[in-house]
Amino acid sequence: MRLAVFVSGGGSNFQAILDAVSGGELSAEIVLCVSSRPGAGALERAARHDVPSVVLSAPRDSEEAVTHEMLGLLDAHAADFVALAGFMRFIPPRVVRAFRNRMLNIHPALLPSFGGTGMYGHRVHEAVIAAGVRYSGATVHLVDDDYDTGPIVLQDVVPVLQHDTPDSLAARVLQLEHRLYPEALSLFAEGRIRVEGRRVLIEPDSSS
Ligand code: GRF
Repeated sequence: MRLAVFVSGGGSNFQAILDAVSGGELSAEIVLCVSSRPGAGALERAARHDVPSVVLSAPRDSEEAVTHEMLGLLDAHAADFVALAGFMRFIPPRVVRAFRNRMLNIHPALLPSFGGTGMYGHRVHEAVIAAGVRYSGATVHLVDDDYDTGPIVLQDVVPVLQHDTPDSLAARVLQLEHRLYPEALSLFAEGRIRVEGRRVLIEPDSSS
């Protein structure tokens, strides 16, 4: 797997992926880090791990230019898989199509609840707490043409506690994300994923 990771923020999920690669749990080469923002903390992580990084420069309101830039970068680094890790920009349909079933995203709640346009960052955890649900979690899903709607690869849960604030809940979910994202990527790296419509089937591990 020649993996490109798209980021916009601190990049703690990116770090979890980097660690899984260094630790040998994820058999992949991280060939590129693409950031939507020049100041993203994730860029420092890329530099520390000698991963080439690029800040997108195409004007965000030109879908054609963004498509061209993204596809050009992925092609130049011969990336064959993309992980969105806190990436806060729209992925144009042509890019999604080029990486159909080869592009993942992580969402800090249990989809299909608490997802969609405008549901990102703290807003997600605020909505979860306000809804009074007992459990939240994280979802790794394939990317399709809409926000947070692609087939689900892995999910796991954390409890929502009585005195949780969006911050405390976010921290609990983030810990889970750091385990789930490398695990999902490694299922793809090992060729154990089959997609049938909306269902993602996981083949047993032949090495164990
Ligand atoms: C995570 O909560 C992820 O689920 C969401 O954005 C956040 C990114 O955090 N898509 P980080 O930049 O990986 O620390």
